Parts: sequence; C-alpha cells; structure tokens
Amino acid sequence: MAGIHGGEEIRIAIAGDLHDHWDETDHALLERIRPDALLLVGDLSEGRSRIPAMLRHLPLPMACILGNHDTGRDASGAVLQRQLDLLGEHHCGWGLRELRPPGLAVVGARPGTAGGGYRLNRATRAVYGPVDLWESADRITRAALAADQTLPLVLLAHCGPSGLGNQPQDPCGRDWKKRAGDWGDQDLALAIGQIRRHRGVPLVVFGHMHHSLKRGLGLRRSIHRDVAGTTYLNAACVPRHGVDGERGALRHFSWVSLEPATGSVRHVSHRWYGPDGSLHYEETLRC
Ligand SMILES: [Fe+2]
Repeated sequence: MAGIHGGEEIRIAIAGDLHDHWDETDHALLERIRPDALLLVGDLSEGRSRIPAMLRHLPLPMACILGNHDTGRDASGAVLQRQLDLLGEHHCGWGLRELRPPGLAVVGARPGTAGGGYRLNRATRAVYGPVDLWESADRITRAALAADQTLPLVLLAHCGPSGLGNQPQDPCGRDWKKRAGDWGDQDLALAIGQIRRHRGVPLVVFGHMHHSLKRGLGLRRSIHRDVAGTTYLNAACVPRHGVDGERGALRHFSWVSLEPATGSVRHVSHRWYGPDGSLHYEETLRC
C-alpha cells in the first residue's frame, strides 16, 4: 500500500487550533502542496459556521475533531450541533473515520474537551448525553478496535492525553498558572492503554495547549515519544497565519510522514508555507 501519489509514505498535514485563521488561501495552498490527508484538531472558531461550511468543499481526505471553543459558549449544544451537521462524516469525535485513499484509520477522542483530566462540558453533554470517564475511554477504544487492522491508526484529539509530563513546557503542561501540572485528558490516556492490548498506536495528534507559553515561559515541547513507541504531536501553533518581513504571508501546518504498512512515523515537522506553496521554514522534530 502506498500514499495517493504512489510513494512509500503517507503525508499528513495537520492544522492546529485555527481560531478563525482559515480561508480560501489555505485551500489554494493545500491544492498546491497536496498532502495525502488533512487532520484538524479543533477550536476552529468560537462556534461560527464559516469554517465548517468551507471544509465541506475541500477536495482532500480529511478528518476533524471539535474543541472547547467550538461550543461558542452555548451550553444548549445547538451551536456545537450546527457545526457537527455541517462537518458531517468529516467529524470523528468518539468515532472512526477511515480515509481511503490514502489508507489511514483516524479515531477521534472526546469532542469539546478543554483538558484538565476529565470534564464533560455542558454543550457536549447536551449533544452526546452524559458520558463518564470510563465510558469515554471505552468509546474511543471501541472505535479503534473497529478499524481495519491493516491501516495505520491515528488518534485525533483536541487535548492530548495525561501522562506526557507535568511541567509548563510539556506537550499538555499547564502554563497559565504558577502551579504547573499535567493538563492532559485521562480518558484518552486510558483508551491508549486499552487499545494497545490489541494493536499498536503509532501516532496521537492534538492541540489546545498553545505552543507559545504564558508568563514569558518560552515555547512548548510539541513532540513526545513514549516507551511503547507512540509519537505524540501537539499541533497548536497559534496564530497559524503569520507575516514575515522577508517572505510575506506564512501559513503553518504540522507535518507527519508515516510508513503505510506499519504506521511507523518517519518524519515530524512544523512547516510554514507561503500562499504559493513554497516551503519557507521547516522545523524537524525529534523525540
Ligand atoms: Fe481549546
């Protein structure tokens, strides 16, 4: 099996928390750089319909999970539901989305999470019903075990799992309070442990915890690999639209290359492209 370009790798572009930074230029750019798949980790906006409506027309294999900002501070769940309706099958919260091509099983974690262990917000509860920590972990696990075992498995989450460190600069470390801590999600960590009894988990991608730390603490460590060989990638470069004095407009994507047969992660980077598809800056991430 190979990527849709017939190559020996699957090239995945990951858009970190958009926070409204998504437009036709991003679509034109993606048409030029043509990743094999696009993953979005949520916080598209504050609950507006513009971006979900745009994403429907993007001619790329794609999967998305919504984050805490996507509830739009609407506890009734109506704002969240409207976006779910627009995203349709692209949204994979608590579910499986197999992308063929390129041959990738994407499983979504809990939608709407704001991290911090386990907190089901009111909007998510209104749409999905009361779901406790263990039920959430079981839903993620069941979705992963329903996936075609021959496809590489990617877990797509808004906030990463607990267990990746308790310092502010860790991939899910709390940086906005003096007392640091692990702000990862426990249900996702439990699910990863459960899934591993049956199959490998090569890659977990998420956002929520922005790269630029509060209180002048510098930049977050955005990659982690654990002893079981899973690569964790925090894609939340915010804002992802920038301007460089020399190059002009820049657009950020995180980038992963997977080996199609085994799912082993070959390359992980943060990339800043110009609107014409030129790769202006690349930071290769090593664990
Ligand atoms: Fe968030």
